[in-house]
Amino acid sequence: MKKLEDYVTSIPDFPEAGIVFRDVTTILEDPDGLSMAVDGIRQMLKGVEYDSVIGPESRGFIFGVPVAYAEHKGFIPVRKKGKLPREVLSADYELEYGKATVEIHKDSIKPGQKVVIIDDLIATGGTIEAIIKLVEELGGEVVKICFIMELAGLNGRDRLTGYDVEAMISYE
Ligand code: PRP
Ligand code: ADE
Repeated sequence: MKKLEDYVTSIPDFPEAGIVFRDVTTILEDPDGLSMAVDGIRQMLKGVEYDSVIGPESRGFIFGVPVAYAEHKGFIPVRKKGKLPREVLSADYELEYGKATVEIHKDSIKPGQKVVIIDDLIATGGTIEAIIKLVEELGGEVVKICFIMELAGLNGRDRLTGYDVEAMISYE
């Protein structure tokens, strides 16, 4: 029986020298890999009380939507700058390679709304830290953060202390 990590492909020096890129497309391409990943996140959410799933563009959409659908929750997209059509709240952050800005629709979260954040991977933690800031500025509460993979060597969890964080696979 294959494990989920057997479906991940590691590509050295992508997108730049020195980065080992952990590619989830080989999880997605395989029906067993895909169901193992989605079911694994659903398992992490057993017993968690929440109203909505949030996922960042683009890989957070891939795993967030099937989980939200299966659990009969709504899905709130967080997108890169300039993509969302209504009034947005923005946050800037730094990545393992480069910088970016994420945005959320201001009216997508109501005060007291409990959300879980789902993404494929945590590297520096910058993306999720920025999303937490957006959610909390709108009065929402982040009750759980789920990843397929964690790049533990980059210490992203240190930026998320006090939050319930879980990853299915950990790389040094
Ligand atoms: C990747 C990944 C996470 C983020 C992790 O997304 O899917 O969202 O980087 O990095 P961090 O922990 O250092 O913030 P990316 O912004 O590359 O966009 P993509 O999903 O569209 O490829
Ligand atoms: N996002 C940020 N760092 C990454 C990595 N090493 N592999 C895949 N996605 C990433």
